[in-house]
Amino acid sequence: EKAGFEHFMMKEIHEQPKAVEDTIRSVVKDGTIDFSGVGMTEEDMRGIRQIYIVACGSAYHVGVAAQYVIEDMAKIPVRVELASEFRYRHPLLDPEGLVVVISQSGETADSLAALREAKSRGIKTLGIVNVVGSSIAREADNVFYTLAGPEIAVATTKAYSTQLIACYALAVQLAKVRGEIDDSQYAYYVAELETLPEKMQRIIGDKERIQWFAAKQAAAKDIFFIGRGIDYAISLEGSLKMKEISYIHSEAYAAGELKHGTISLIENGTLVIGVLTQQELYEKTVSNMVECKSRGAYLMGLTTYGNYNIEDTADFVVYVPKTDPHFATSLAVIPLQLMGYYVSVAKGLDVDKPRNLAKSVTVE
Ligand code: M6R
Repeated sequence: EKAGFEHFMMKEIHEQPKAVEDTIRSVVKDGTIDFSGVGMTEEDMRGIRQIYIVACGSAYHVGVAAQYVIEDMAKIPVRVELASEFRYRHPLLDPEGLVVVISQSGETADSLAALREAKSRGIKTLGIVNVVGSSIAREADNVFYTLAGPEIAVATTKAYSTQLIACYALAVQLAKVRGEIDDSQYAYYVAELETLPEKMQRIIGDKERIQWFAAKQAAAKDIFFIGRGIDYAISLEGSLKMKEISYIHSEAYAAGELKHGTISLIENGTLVIGVLTQQELYEKTVSNMVECKSRGAYLMGLTTYGNYNIEDTADFVVYVPKTDPHFATSLAVIPLQLMGYYVSVAKGLDVDKPRNLAKSVTVE
């Protein structure tokens, strides 16, 4: 059942290119995105004044990435919120808003409660859900089914990756129907989306290098992930993967926030992972990495091929293929999933069933 892999998590990491391709194919036909299967018309899309993305854990991290993508492409204000906070804060909701609930299981208690709260206020809802017929899928006004297939490992990988695709497709389609991008930009984004599975495959093919590096981190006490913009969203997910299965304390910081407190935690040899896929923020994050290094940090850089001068700063570098910067999360997350996995294996831990955690959190 693990198809020759030692753990479900590794099997699912390998299933990502296919899961992403299937999810893209479910909405992209002949170079055109079609949301009719989701049940959203162009008229619905033109009328949206505000988007609220509500989710937990990794699905929330998808929302953080999506917030940057949707606002930048479609010019619609987006607010992303933890479902456990949303449900109790009596949120002020724009009646012309759209509440997007992202959930692999479709059963997460807080996410389901958030969906019900939105519906009871008469706000339109869209579920991005993996499990067919789950509660969120049944109750949302519209559903985008991610085609990840069954995910067994507690640490999500392929479901997360397909949730990103759903959000990108939504962003590109919203941008198009609202006239924020022209036909050639639209064609470019759709074509770029279609290149992701092959690029993901290439990153997975390089896994031994990450394994070698990860094995050396097994004794780490703390790991910090830093990045700006979309690279911050990637950092959040990398950090969660690490702590969830390797039991190493880790934190993700928006790189500019370090100086406001956290940098005092950097000691000699503390691993700091700088995520640098966003070219316009590259130099800024590099300078934050340099600040960490001068306090003794050991630096890993995660960036795109071409940014070879990162080797002047970082002690270890992982390169991923280039894509449009909006879609960078899909590629850069993979080395971080592999890092968490290999550290967990090096420590001899139960990768697929980490302590204290359940696959689906049905109590609040
Ligand atoms: O089923 P859901 O997508 O609603 O689950 C949300 C979180 O519980 C989930 O993403 C959790 O954070 C994962 N274990 C992270 O790997």
